[in-house]
Amino acid sequence: MARTLLICKPDAVERGLVGEILRRVEAKGLRFSRLELRTIDVATAKTHYSEHDGKPFFGDLVDFITRSPSLIAVVEGPGEVFAMVRSLMGVTDPQLAAPGTIRGDLATMVSENLVHGSDSAASAEREIGLFFPELKS
Ligand code: RTP
Ligand code: MG
Repeated sequence: MARTLLICKPDAVERGLVGEILRRVEAKGLRFSRLELRTIDVATAKTHYSEHDGKPFFGDLVDFITRSPSLIAVVEGPGEVFAMVRSLMGVTDPQLAAPGTIRGDLATMVSENLVHGSDSAASAEREIGLFFPELKS
């Protein structure tokens, strides 16, 4: 069984869409081994999104992801589970995301795109270790 990190971002919690998002992940056949509602602190947010440090949207991204609680989930499933979760999410920009995906069905703006999913197996392990140090492999 492989694992990945899924975050229902502050907009998802504020809009009451956590149930709908988790329902889609569960219906696919994936399972949660950890679920925690947590306001992400600025230091963790900057580390998590360090690949985007220096880009014009970095400050807004950190402000957004830390503004209110997120639902942080470790998702387990067979094969490339990170890719299955990314596929359920849809592409980054909700204006381009396909109908049937979380972003395509439920969001309109790239700055408020509801979910984060690890983009590789290596990112998944790094991110799970960042948010849940006790789960480090
Ligand atoms: P995420 O990391 O949040 O799962 O999203 P992603 O992989 O689909 O997209 P990524 O390229 O990693 O971007 C991280 C987040 O930064 C915001 N963003 N804004 N204004 C812009 O052009 C822009 N580009 C990216 C988005 O909120 C994206 O989720
Ligand atoms: Mg990303």
